[in-house]
Amino acid sequence: MKLFYPSIMLTVATVVFIGCKGDANKTTINYDYDVKPIFEMNCLECHGENGMANLNLSTYDDLMKGDSDNGPVVIPYDAENSLLYQKVSREDPPIGSRMPYGRNPLPSSQIRIIEEWILQGAKK
Ligand code: HEC
Repeated sequence: MKLFYPSIMLTVATVVFIGCKGDANKTTINYDYDVKPIFEMNCLECHGENGMANLNLSTYDDLMKGDSDNGPVVIPYDAENSLLYQKVSREDPPIGSRMPYGRNPLPSSQIRIIEEWILQGAKK
């Protein structure tokens, strides 16, 4: 419980931050707590080891490796030009289909988390 409590607080803080877009109180998005669960819930089924388009979203290092079919999918500090963000946020991304493939789009709160995480430098 002692160890669990801070992570709950961080998640709550993140949700509050995402809720108030443009708020001056910036909260750092945490890869393990905020971003990874989104991939686990929505992407790993197709993007594990030997994943579609050779993209493995299992770990931070796999995600940042940059060896999928179209090269690096994350450009730190530049969400707009990151294929990862383009493909979850646009109906008609520059390459291929919107992700998750053949499913409903991610909730806008999760798209915002991915965007903000990249804007903050896509750190581990
Ligand atoms: C049902 C299977 C499926 C799911 C679920 C899925 N994808 Fe994909 N993904 C694909 C396929 C197939 C491709 C290749 C065709 C394309 O790019 O449209 C792909 C390609 C990609 C690429 C392009 C990689 C490259 O280098 O070309 C990215 C980025 C991506 N997916 C991200 C995601 C993310 C993020 C999620 C979860 C939110 C996700 N995908 C969920 C099937 C899936």
